Amino acid sequence: MILSIESSCDDSAISITEIANKKLLFHKKISQELEHSVYGGVVPELAARLHAQALPQILEQCEPYFKDLKAVAVTSTPGLAVTLVEGVTMAKAIAVALNIPIIGVNHLVGHIYSLFIEKETDFPLTVLLVSGGHTQVMEVKSLRDIKTVAKSMDDSFGESFDKVAKMMGLGYPGGPLIEDLAKNGDRLKYNFTVPLHQSPLIAFSYSGLKNAVRLAIVDAGEERVKYKDIAASFEHIATKHLTMKLKKYFKTSKPQTFAIVGGASANIYLRTQIKELLKPHNAKLLLSELQYCSDNAAMIGRVAVEMYKENMFSSIEELDISPRSSL
Ligand code: KG4
Ligand code: ZN
Repeated sequence: MILSIESSCDDSAISITEIANKKLLFHKKISQELEHSVYGGVVPELAARLHAQALPQILEQCEPYFKDLKAVAVTSTPGLAVTLVEGVTMAKAIAVALNIPIIGVNHLVGHIYSLFIEKETDFPLTVLLVSGGHTQVMEVKSLRDIKTVAKSMDDSFGESFDKVAKMMGLGYPGGPLIEDLAKNGDRLKYNFTVPLHQSPLIAFSYSGLKNAVRLAIVDAGEERVKYKDIAASFEHIATKHLTMKLKKYFKTSKPQTFAIVGGASANIYLRTQIKELLKPHNAKLLLSELQYCSDNAAMIGRVAVEMYKENMFSSIEELDISPRSSL
């Protein structure tokens, strides 16, 4: 079995995965959404402090598995430096105490493997990762062959939902709050410009849209009834930006199997629009189970099983955190 730890942002999670059959034997996650909600976003130092409390609590429950552990895995990149350190320090202590090897996992690869929890992999695959930290399209042929073909030049898709929610004073995380508000709104009420719509670049950008939404919110003033239309129009354009760029990309790279992963892949409007986009291509759409869209340790464990089989271990002395993405 492998014990895996995730602490790259505001979720403390630990899983136990059986190596031979990929079975998820244990998974527990403690989210910090409530604590960060008052600030409208994640406060790194607070997040680190909460990980330091939550991770040992969860680890205690894993004690019955200790004797069967063959390795310990941990998210080491990308993420918040002060929170990654919490997980990596704990993983190193476990590796030393139990005399087992350590595996440093890339969180983004984790999101890809969230599709295959307790399942076999299905490659080649084109993946759209939409989370709080990333918006990128990757061509995945295997664990070692992952190529990023498009990414955001500024804010991410999920982050833009968080920022719009913050501007509306709704709380954090903004994705589900904006999605909920948008349900009763008119998607066509506000004619926000689709980002980079005239650019030939296959890349994403959300900072301009965020500013346009900010102006609409300022303009609405005390008329909060307008917020639902702003939310709906924002969600519509934020999604249209993704589908327009993907459409362009599909002109040269036909998708056979396409997947959406990451916290924001839970968004129903996004899922529906991507399904429509894939129809003429007869492409298969893969989605993670809802509980594994947002950050979790089950996906880290699933990658770790593959890395274990390929002897992709790190040395305890050399494994270090790397806050920036390497994919
Ligand atoms: O994958 P995740 O849990 O953490 C990162 O790796 O960043 O993604 C969290 C992000 C947040 O920005 C959150 O607002 C967004 O995913 N999110 C959503 C939805 N649910 C979560 N965005 C849009 N619609 C949703 N339903
Ligand atoms: Zn994530």
